[in-house]
Amino acid sequence: MIPNFTQLLAARTESMAASAIREILKVANRPGVTSLAGGIPAPETFPMDILEKVFSEVCRRWGSSAFQYDLTEGFVPLREAASSYLRRYSVEAAAEDILVSSGSQGLLDAIGKILIEPGDIVAVESPTYLGALQAFNPYGPGYAEIETDEMGAIPDSLEEILKRDKPKFIYLVPTFQNPAGRTLTFERRRAIAELIVSYGALLVEDDPYAALRYKGQTVPSIKSLAPENVLYGTTFSKVFAPGLRVGLAVPPKGELGSWLVRAKQGTDLHTSTLSQAMAAVYLEGGYLEDRLPLICNHYAPRLDSMLVALETCFPRDWNWSRPEGGMFLWAEGPAGTDIPAIYEKALAAQVAFVPGRYFYAKPENGGRTMRLNFTNAAPEELGQAVATLGTIISES
Ligand SMILES: Cc1ncc(COP(=O)(O)O)c(C=O)c1O
Repeated sequence: MIPNFTQLLAARTESMAASAIREILKVANRPGVTSLAGGIPAPETFPMDILEKVFSEVCRRWGSSAFQYDLTEGFVPLREAASSYLRRYSVEAAAEDILVSSGSQGLLDAIGKILIEPGDIVAVESPTYLGALQAFNPYGPGYAEIETDEMGAIPDSLEEILKRDKPKFIYLVPTFQNPAGRTLTFERRRAIAELIVSYGALLVEDDPYAALRYKGQTVPSIKSLAPENVLYGTTFSKVFAPGLRVGLAVPPKGELGSWLVRAKQGTDLHTSTLSQAMAAVYLEGGYLEDRLPLICNHYAPRLDSMLVALETCFPRDWNWSRPEGGMFLWAEGPAGTDIPAIYEKALAAQVAFVPGRYFYAKPENGGRTMRLNFTNAAPEELGQAVATLGTIISES
């Protein structure tokens, strides 16, 4: 008889449901389907042409050390190079104040591990990054949803939550948010910075997309406005290669950083030394500097093509985000919009997207929304896919 080990599973696995999006992606990746459902960078943006050079440089400079166990805090040359890199995103941090994580996702898990007790409230945007909910859920939090509009999280809504729910921490993706593509305005960043300082609250600023700006002005990080209240995280996944699994974190001064390190020690001892050394050379050697414009030039026409198609083909009573960067657009229909029906018809017409309801801490919200990714098809194909969606919606 085959033993049934399912009965051994801890109760917390109940909150570790398999991602419904993975099922959608399986369908979306069928041949012939134009997928607006994915969320991964275009492989053409990976710097394959220089990787051998970067790898040789790693071997020449660090030899066997690049393949050895290393500090949990992170590979020192990477942290040194990251100190000036982060300044571009208005994050001031000395090398010793920077921690390396196994992608931003590794950081989110460590945050959940050290901060969340069952029943604690975490304040998140409505909608929010699904991967953050997946990282936090096993630790048993409840969520308070911060209302949002086209300018991102609404400070008054956050203040109400701070007063009413006393959240353990606030989690925001302020720039080119996944899933909504929205960017929190400077005025709102300032208002939120003032709020967290006056309430003594901790805010996690998850910032993977700031470098993917195709037009408009950079907006300073919330970290720069309230450094002692913000735990900042970013990643090389969108500007180098996600398979390397390298992220960066700048916790507020004090004890939090050392607890993150202890949590990480138990998870993976440290992030791959080789990946970190590759990232160090990528930064120090000016490769990222050279590559970033190419990455942005790759995505910009894709975003434009989708925006033009939305303007011309979507019904007037729909709203959508108009981001200046990132990887996602967000569209919302009027009351009565039947997203599951639109989804089925779109699939039949070989177009896939992710229904927005998956991105809400409270899934009953978001029934009229969809996330549209623009990084993984040619501009014309993306425009055509949006036109097809527009026709389906108009005929629904
Ligand atoms: C908002 C956000 N945070 C974190 C991540 C995880 O990124 P990483 O590859 O660095 O783990 C993603 C990836 O899509 C994301 O969109």
